[in-house]
Amino acid sequence: MIFLPAIAHPLPGLIAGPGTCVPSLKRRIVRGLTGLISLPQVGGWPWFGATDQMDDMMPWGRGMLVTRPGGGGGVDPSEPEPAVTTSRAMSFYHAPVLLAEVIELLQPAPGKLIFDGTLGGGGHSEALLQHGARVVAMDQDPNALRHAEERLKAYAPQFCALRGNFRNFPQIVEETGVSGFDGMLVDIGVSSHQLDEASRGFSFSKDAPLDMRMDTDAPVTADDLINTAEEAELARIFFEYGEEPAGRRIARAIVKARASRRIDTTLKLAEVVAAAAPKRGKRHPATLVFQALRIAVNDELAALHDFLAAAPRWLKPGGRLAVIAFHSLEDRIVKQTLQHLCAPFLDRPEWPEPRPNPDCLLKPVTRKAVKATPLEIELNPRARSAVLRVAERLPG
Ligand SMILES: C[S@@+](CC[C@H](N)C(=O)[O-])C[C@H]1O[C@@H](n2cnc3c(N)ncnc32)[C@H](O)[C@@H]1O
Repeated sequence: MIFLPAIAHPLPGLIAGPGTCVPSLKRRIVRGLTGLISLPQVGGWPWFGATDQMDDMMPWGRGMLVTRPGGGGGVDPSEPEPAVTTSRAMSFYHAPVLLAEVIELLQPAPGKLIFDGTLGGGGHSEALLQHGARVVAMDQDPNALRHAEERLKAYAPQFCALRGNFRNFPQIVEETGVSGFDGMLVDIGVSSHQLDEASRGFSFSKDAPLDMRMDTDAPVTADDLINTAEEAELARIFFEYGEEPAGRRIARAIVKARASRRIDTTLKLAEVVAAAAPKRGKRHPATLVFQALRIAVNDELAALHDFLAAAPRWLKPGGRLAVIAFHSLEDRIVKQTLQHLCAPFLDRPEWPEPRPNPDCLLKPVTRKAVKATPLEIELNPRARSAVLRVAERLPG
């Protein structure tokens, strides 16, 4: 990201610089779970002249930045269509999965404000913006934010992207003055770009340093875990996050191998794993180990738990929460948490009768998980494992 030269700004901690549709650039230093994280903001913000109540809550007042003369929330039908072709001209980053289903279920429209916690290549955000919604997006990967800045610049008056982990969204979003959303989306896991970019170390299809951090400033890499974690801890990671039946054997082989040379590249790790746990079926023997390591490095399941615990209270009545998961570990968390948040009563054997559930804030929208159509899977095989679940905030 290009940081524009700082100019005087009325609020401490904010840096504003010149730009076409990106008039403000905010950097905050927040102490997150992974230490100090710098949070650049891309996109236009706030949306002056928008008609909904949230504008009254913008912390830095109206009229400070000029975005669109007389602009309202969402797309003004009298204005020319935004340049949808921008994204097509850009190199491939990530194909959004279940896009039509997400749009149908989140119902983006002018006047609505939607949170996209996993901006990635910006495909879902772009479609939400094209339907006239305003979008507050977040990603922990600075590369995704840079890409989105370019792809979505035509929507700057409607769009704001923040760097950070979605598990911390309440603190990060609160700083912008927003207090509620009409829709919230997370499409968890890694993007195709992260997988394909060899230097990120997510894949054993290319040799690269063993990194696997989505947040490139996070303190712990896969290399650190593989070369310093105790054998029992490695076995736990492979078993819990990869459901790898040979987890113990693989952990033992890693500890033995690292005693003679550091396992610091994707291919070195894949070799050690393949030697310890020969191939079963079509899958490369290191597939589940790589999945497990990625989940551990990025603390993905705990981040999902934290997000799901906070999200319902950030939905306006009738607002919808949509979560796309890619493997059973994630989907189990989503399914069970939504079941709990949608249950009006709780029951336990030791209770004489069911009791009202104080956490019941949602009602289910999708009774069953939504999956990709055969056509989408044919066009984008990654969609095969995508599972979408949606729930809606109850009134009151
Ligand atoms: C599957 S991609 C999202 C793709 C996106 N929906 C699109 O249409 O292009 C997941 C993205 O979410 C980000 N991500 C994953 N977990 C995150 C978390 N806990 N907090 C913030 N970003 C996260 C990743 O860095 C990645 O860019």
